[in-house]
Amino acid sequence: MTGATPRTVTGRVTIRKCEALEDMQACFALQKEVWKFSDADLVPVRMFVVASKIGGHVIGAFVPREDERCEEKELIAFALAIPGMRNGHCYLHSHMLAVRQRYRNGGLGRRMKLYQREDALARGFELMEWTFDPLEIKNAYLNIEKLGAIARRYNVNQYGVTSSPLQGGLPTDRLVAEWWMKSKRVEMVLVDGPRAKFECRARIDVPAEIYEWKAAAPTRAQALAVQGNNRQRFQQAFADGLSVLGYERDGRGNGRFLLGEWDEGWRY
Ligand SMILES: CC(C)(COP(=O)(O)OP(=O)(O)OC[C@H]1O[C@@H](n2cnc3c(N)ncnc32)[C@H](O)[C@@H]1OP(=O)(O)O)[C@@H](O)C(=O)NCCC(=O)NCCS
Repeated sequence: MTGATPRTVTGRVTIRKCEALEDMQACFALQKEVWKFSDADLVPVRMFVVASKIGGHVIGAFVPREDERCEEKELIAFALAIPGMRNGHCYLHSHMLAVRQRYRNGGLGRRMKLYQREDALARGFELMEWTFDPLEIKNAYLNIEKLGAIARRYNVNQYGVTSSPLQGGLPTDRLVAEWWMKSKRVEMVLVDGPRAKFECRARIDVPAEIYEWKAAAPTRAQALAVQGNNRQRFQQAFADGLSVLGYERDGRGNGRFLLGEWDEGWRY
């Protein structure tokens, strides 16, 4: 598994909604630090403000600064969501979630999603959606296995090729995560109970080397080949009525999507 040793932050972290302009500015700065986008790809401060005023939300995680005399807190994670509408139903679209590098892999990403869920449920939303790069093994694992989201839609090159090095110059293909927040399936996952059983009808693999392949020009063609092959397999599986319902990692860090038939009754 990749990533820095997690910093233990439990107890010192305050997670809360952001409403003040300074909080929005801190989220904007963390966005820049995490994605390293060029100016044209950055979500501006004013969109953070708008999101918080029109039924979306901006959530921040804060820790005390290392200099104890300083009252101000340091923002170490944020989530940004906007309201959406499909077939006459409102849902929350979570556009960004970021945890500062040195605070990753300690469960903060999951805690942020749980806070988002609490806020969304309190305001009457049943569905939260977000998109994620199916080549990002860690994100897929977090979304499907640790949160209980499902996926049954695939968007090809959603944002065009972006300036973020996280994307490695590849087309921005995205899976749409659907998080049916009140469902038994999600509730069971969140208490680490038994998972809803399903017959696995297809498997789609992502090799652990994908991060290295994306990062360097000489191997980028290998990453592109995996993306192209998996894109076709997702599109075919979704056309056949299958959905991503599970995710596995092995000891070497390879990822595997597990697809089966989604039962609409599982939304409740
Ligand atoms: C995605 C992100 C928000 C997750 O935050 P986080 O605090 O590290 O997440 P968590 O610690 O709650 O959960 C991550 C899980 O993935 C696991 N993980 C870590 N590295 C992994 C890897 N390379 N492959 C597979 N799983 C991995 C962690 O161990 C943890 O699972 P565990 O609790 O069973 O050990 C963070 O990595 C980030 O900011 N990434 C950059 C921005 C981004 O991609 N945002 C999401 C799309 S908008």
